[in-house]
Order: sequence, then C-alpha cells, then structure tokens
Amino acid sequence: MPEPFLNYIAGRWVPARSGRTFANHNPATGEHLGDYPASGPEDVDDAVEAATRAYRSWRLTPAPKRAEIVFRAGEIIRERKEELARAMTREMGKILVEARGDVQEGIDMAYLAAGEGRRMYGVTTPSEMPNKWAMSVRAPIGVVGVITPWNFPFAIPSWKLMPALVAGNTAVFKPAGDTPEMAWHFTRIFEQAGLPPGVLNLVFGGGSQVGGPMVEHPGIHVISFTGSTDVGLGIAGRGGALGKRISLEMGGKNAIIVMDDADLGLATDAIVWSAFGTTGQRCTACSRVLVHPRVHDALADQVASRASRLTLGDGLDAATEVGPLINAGQVATVEQYVAIGRGEGSLVAGGARATQGALAKGHFHQPTVFAAVQHDARIAVEEIFGPVVAMVKVKSLEEAVEVNNASRYGLSSSIFTADVNRAFAAMRDLETGIVYVNHGTTGAETHLPFGGTRGTGNGHREAGHTMLDPFTEWKSIYVDFSGRLQRAQIDNA
Ligand code: UN1
Repeated sequence: MPEPFLNYIAGRWVPARSGRTFANHNPATGEHLGDYPASGPEDVDDAVEAATRAYRSWRLTPAPKRAEIVFRAGEIIRERKEELARAMTREMGKILVEARGDVQEGIDMAYLAAGEGRRMYGVTTPSEMPNKWAMSVRAPIGVVGVITPWNFPFAIPSWKLMPALVAGNTAVFKPAGDTPEMAWHFTRIFEQAGLPPGVLNLVFGGGSQVGGPMVEHPGIHVISFTGSTDVGLGIAGRGGALGKRISLEMGGKNAIIVMDDADLGLATDAIVWSAFGTTGQRCTACSRVLVHPRVHDALADQVASRASRLTLGDGLDAATEVGPLINAGQVATVEQYVAIGRGEGSLVAGGARATQGALAKGHFHQPTVFAAVQHDARIAVEEIFGPVVAMVKVKSLEEAVEVNNASRYGLSSSIFTADVNRAFAAMRDLETGIVYVNHGTTGAETHLPFGGTRGTGNGHREAGHTMLDPFTEWKSIYVDFSGRLQRAQIDNA
C-alpha cells in the first residue's frame, strides 16, 4: 500500500486543509509515485503558528543538545543511504551514483552542523571603560522559511535546515513539487531523531499557494531560497519590502576555461562530468567552455565524441550515465535553446530529444555540444539547466576572465592550465563564489561556503564556516560591574 504522504505540522502528519492533492511521477518512466497535499495559505498559517510556539522552548534548549538531534539524524541518514538514494533516483531521475552523492552531502552536513552546536563562537573584547565586560554572541532569529529546488532534494534542505535548527530557529519547509518524497523522508528522519513537535514543519504545495504566503507571512523572519533567478528576485523584492532577511542562491552559467597548455584529456573528463552529470541540472553545471583557439577544435572533437557515446536511461540501471530531465517543461526549454543554438554555433553532438525504446516514457534529451559559439550568443549567456554546452573561443586568459565576469551569473568557474602563474591570476580575477583549478565546475564540499556573485545570489553564503550567518543575528552585550553610571565616549574621552 502506498504511504499516505502528508504535511508535518506541530508534530502531526496532516492533509492539506482543503483536502486537495497533487501527483508525483518518476521522470524516467512516468510511473505514479504518490499523491501529496496541495496546501494553501491556511496550511502555512498552521505551520507558522506551530513553529512560533515551538520556538519558545527550542531557542532555550542548549545548542549542543539541539546539535545532538541533528547528529542523530545524520546517523539515520547514513544507515539508510542506499534506500534514500534509490528513492531519489526514482523521484528525481539523477543516476544512482549521483543520488548517493546527494545523500552523502546530507550526512556530511549533519556532522558538520552538529559540531557547530559546541562551537557557535562569539567574541569577547575589552571595553573602553573600567569594570565593564563586552562580548557579542549569535542569537537565533525566529521562524525561518526554507524553499528548496528539486535538483538536490536532500543536500540543499540539509545545508539550510541543519544549521538553522542548530542555531535555535524553528522552520517551515516547502520543497519543490517535483521532489516531495525526499522532503518527506528528510522530515521523518528528524522526527525519528527526536526533534520536538513544531520545530520543523513541512508544507507541500506550489509556489503561489505556499511559497508566496510564506514570503508574505509576518511570522516568518528569514527566507532561504534556492531556485531560479526570476523567482528569487521576486522573493527578494516582496520579502525585502517587509524587512525580512532573504538568502538567495539562484542561477548559473558556469564556465570552464581551457588554456592551450592544459591537459586536454583531463579537461574533457571534467567538461563531460560537469556539463552532463545530473543531466546538466545543477546550479554549478558547466554550460560554456572558454577555450584557446589553438586547442578549440581538438577539445570540441573529444567532448563531442564522449557526449555522443553517453548512455541514457533510467538512473537505477547501472549502465546509465545520463538520466532524464525533471519534467516535460524542462525538455521543452532545452529543445527551444537547441533550436536557437543551431543558428548560433556548430552542432557537434546531440541536438534532439531521445525517444527510442523505453526512453519514450521519460523526459530524455541527448547530451548536446555546440562549438565555435560567439561569447554573447544566447546559448552562451542564458541559463538552460539541461545537457547543453557551448564552446567559445577566447584568445587569452585576460579575455577568458572578461567573458566569464560579464555573465549575469557568478556561481562557479574553473580553469585548466599547467601554468601556476595563470592559475593564481585566475583565482584572483574570476568573480564567482566558487573557483576551481584543474577541476570541473561541480562538486562543492559542504565545509566551504556555497553561493555566488551577481545574479546568482544576494551576498549570502550557506554551508561551510559561514553556515550560521544566514540564520543568526549578532547580539552585542555590555555588562557594567562598576556600580556607577559610566558614559561611553564621554567619561573616558
Ligand atoms: C546545486 O546545483 O544547487 O557543487 C547544488 C555541487 C553540489 C551542489 C550543487 N555539491 O555541484
């Protein structure tokens, strides 16, 4: 019997008040995986009320104790890694090795965030007055709203919710409609790990019915969002006008730069993995290669031949190297960009949907490579979020940096070179939140800050040693033990 997939509010599993549901499907096979509450503003109200009530005691629970629950959740995830990875592949489509990586990122984050419960360092500093103590400490903010995408359905909720909870906040969690099951597992694991009722509330449903009301709700103080730039900027506008803290991680148009002294075999491996891994549906995916004219043709040949030999299929099948796109809309977007690309560059691999045999039941598109694309062509500038890569000629490192930095986005970039001077110049000059040397654009580790510049973000970094920043306020505290009125800036001037 299929599970009843319900919202989790105030420690109880409940349907949407309206009783409505939406369906979840496997993008590789079309199989129906279950029905989930199609919630509305009234369910958001219930969740915020529960989170507000739970905040009163959760914020006073010692941080190391809060962190122990996160650690226990990490242990449960580790024990169930294989089962969770399989469920993820079924629901989201990424191949099993990658789904395991996504779950592993959740485990890594749990252990990292749990350690933070016994650090969460503040700062003590001398006062300018005698017999006076000065320090600053981190304080939780209140109820945080977490809105997550479908492409990393376990890792992204982990790097947002785990630090938020360790810091003493309570949360309302709205996952993407395409991957509700992973959010359901995530929440059940925290229930099992002993999280008190109301600390984490899960509300399924659409952006306008659940996400929008969360952004507008006066009881939610922080919104942490990962998703498209258009939606993110809308959230920043509405939430910002209400004085909320908004942490955004949005689009990318990540470049791999290949200089003429690069190891082309290694660069090819990295391009194929970064561009076609997760079927190109990573914010960090490589979607343009900025390559020196001397090696452009050779690199294009190698990448094209590897791309056209990749095996498409159901990610649960061990032979599959590239899974489906998430849904029909995403296939349509990729097809549109491929049609545009035909007028902008030379198509050297792929270029069509993949519909032979069993692939006809899912949302498959061939890994696609365009060579000799102009740096300002639409396929070299706009985020596609699919298995399409554009190769652009650049004459020098300086030109590569300029093209990279002219992008609307700034999440990740990479350079392949054997020249240490070029590598260091690139590390200094590439204006992205993440820079790689002799490595593709994907594969960020949880203990370094994650996020990007320009249209990718709004200045926040999640995970890493910055993990608490989006979810805490600094509180400066002065303790005067002189027993008399001491006026700073006046009595000691
Ligand atoms: C994302 O695509 O939003 O660095 C997250 C990576 C992964 C996370 C990607 N660790 O590719």
